Amino acid sequence: MLKAVILIGGPQKGTRFRPLSFEVPKPLFPVAGVPMVQHHIEACAKVPGMKEILLMGFYQPHEALSRFLVSAQQEFRIPIRYLQEYAALGTGGGIYHFRDQILSGGPEAFFVLNADVCSEFPLREMLEFQRRRGDAHSALMLGTTANRTQALNYGCIVANADTHEVLHYVEKPSTFVSEIINCGIYLFTPSIFQHIGDVFQRNQQELENSNGWQRAEVIRLEQDVFTALAGSGKLYVYKTDGFWSQIKSAGSAIYASRLYLNQYSQCHPERLAQNKPGGPIIRARVVTSPLICIFSSSARALCSAAHPHPASHLS
Ligand code: GDD
Repeated sequence: MLKAVILIGGPQKGTRFRPLSFEVPKPLFPVAGVPMVQHHIEACAKVPGMKEILLMGFYQPHEALSRFLVSAQQEFRIPIRYLQEYAALGTGGGIYHFRDQILSGGPEAFFVLNADVCSEFPLREMLEFQRRRGDAHSALMLGTTANRTQALNYGCIVANADTHEVLHYVEKPSTFVSEIINCGIYLFTPSIFQHIGDVFQRNQQELENSNGWQRAEVIRLEQDVFTALAGSGKLYVYKTDGFWSQIKSAGSAIYASRLYLNQYSQCHPERLAQNKPGGPIIRARVVTSPLICIFSSSARALCSAAHPHPASHLS
């Protein structure tokens, strides 16, 4: 049995998304017509054996978030819960704090996904890769290729080309390390908690004489855990050529929409405008808004503000 955790951050995060994030929390911002994290939920719900999806963040309970969770549970027929951190615990701190919730029911493995990425989410492929390797205790991260300059904005991975073991990991290096970057999508087994626990213990010792407890719980998966696991035979990378992009700003949300809309023509044609009898026939890729009028070649069909097409994109 499997679970998934989606890291949604909190109100102090996503500042590059302002002013858009004033209206709606960033994880719910629409990307290709549905809330950003719905793409993650849909991908997780499709993985055979997926039993529960946990959204983890430090947003206060929120009406829009609760409403979304109820409707997503109904649509994808899977339990989805929000676990609220008492403070920003970092990308690894929340997972550690809520480890009992993650481990309840005895999952053999669980995915962790950054909310602010758009991706093809090759989760099944990651699982198969991990099962083929036959090592039940290592962690797996999704990697993709960036150019030398872009790579500096991400976690950079140096891997063994044959075994795919991560030999070296540097988060946002100041000089070039590798063109393979961390996509923020991981497959962990329960043994990851031992490694996060080691970081917690170390933090606690270091902070013993200060107001330690709270800050010891702040753990970054990237700098604190992956950097230590690299080169120890416990961290592997699955490289994807599928689409992937970060969503940090309004501009990148438009780019992400484009990537998902492209995918819709295969997996969700119903979310795109359909050719209707008497309506315009859409033959190529087109994006419309309710304010745009489309005249068919026979000038018979007019799509106007009175009969708007939602944003459509057909191939
Ligand atoms: N629950 C929770 N608590 N989530 C958090 C917290 C926290 O304290 N801090 C960040 N997150 C969530 C964010 O909402 C986002 O979805 C994800 O964790 C990563 O956010 P950042 O910490 O802003 O990291 P980043 O996006 O700059 O870089 C990360 O993602 C890149 C891929 O998009 C790193 O993992 C990079 O290595 C990676 O390349």
